[in-house]
Amino acid sequence: MEPLANINGVSLPLSEAKVSALDRGFLFGDAVYEVLRVYGGKPWLEDEHFRRFERSLAAIRITGVDVGRLRQRMHETIRAGDFREATTYIQVTRGAAPRGHAFPAGTVPLEFLYVQEFRDPYAAAREQGAAVVTQPDIRWDRCDVKSTNLLANVLAMQAAKEAGGVEALLYLPDGTLTEGTHTSFFGVLHGTVLTAPNSNAILPGITRGLVLRLAARAGVPVREHVLRRDDLGQVSELFLTGTTSEVLPVTSVDGRPVGDGRPGPVARRLQEAYRQAVREFVGG
Ligand SMILES: Cc1ncc(COP(=O)(O)O)c(C=O)c1O
Repeated sequence: MEPLANINGVSLPLSEAKVSALDRGFLFGDAVYEVLRVYGGKPWLEDEHFRRFERSLAAIRITGVDVGRLRQRMHETIRAGDFREATTYIQVTRGAAPRGHAFPAGTVPLEFLYVQEFRDPYAAAREQGAAVVTQPDIRWDRCDVKSTNLLANVLAMQAAKEAGGVEALLYLPDGTLTEGTHTSFFGVLHGTVLTAPNSNAILPGITRGLVLRLAARAGVPVREHVLRRDDLGQVSELFLTGTTSEVLPVTSVDGRPVGDGRPGPVARRLQEAYRQAVREFVGG
C-alpha cells in the first residue's frame, strides 16, 4: 500500500507531495511534528499526541493552525487507505517566505501529514533485547519541544548504528542521562523503576507517560528521577519506550551487559501490560 499524504487539505500519494524550497521547515528547521502509531485502524493515544502538538506549536509561536482540522485530515487519510497497522507523521512549518531569520509577516503555515503501513523493525529486539551506546547530549535547551531540528539526534543515532546499537543514550556534561535520540528510557535500580523527570532536557514522551501509569497500576515501584552514567553499572534492567519501539529491553550498553544480559522481569511485565492495553484499545 502506497503511503498517502495530505498537504494543506489536498490529499495525494506521498511520492507526489512537494513543498517550496523557501519553506522555513526546509531552510531553518522552523517546524514541529508528531508521530502516532495506528493499531487496528485506530490512532493510539491520539489526545495525548495532539495536546503535545499544540504545546509545541505554541512554544515556537506558530499561530493560526486548526489542530482539530488536522486531526480530521489524519482520520480521513487513514480511512482512505484503509490502513490497519500504520504510522502517521504530522508536521507544521511556519510556511514559505523570502529567507530571513525573524518570523515573516503574513505567512501561512504549511500543514503536512502522511500515513504509511507499519512493518515492525523492532519485533526481534523486543524479544531478545537490544544493544545501545552512550553519546554526549549536544542538543539545545528546549528538548521538550518536538521540533524538526534533529541534527544532534541524527549524529548520535548514526554513531550508535556504526557501533552496532539500536539507540544512543544521551548524557549531559555532568553525567546525567537524558533520553535516547528517538526514545525515552527507564532503568531499574535497587528494585525501583526510574526515568528522568519531565523538564526542558527531554521530550515528554507519550509512551513514557503511559508506561509510568501502567507500572503504577501493576504495583511496580516507580519514581521520576534521573539516572546517571555512573549508575549504568548498577542497574538490573534498562528499557526504551517510544511510539514505534513500544517497550524495548536493553541488554547491553557500550558493549557491557545490563544485569544478566537478558531482558528482565520488569520490562517483560510492562511489555505485557502494554500489549494488553493495545488489545483493549483495538477491541473496544
Ligand atoms: C527525543 C525523543 N525522546 C523520546 C521520544 C519518545 O516519545 P513518544 O513516546 O512520544 O514516541 C521521541 C519520539 O520520537 C523522541 O524523538
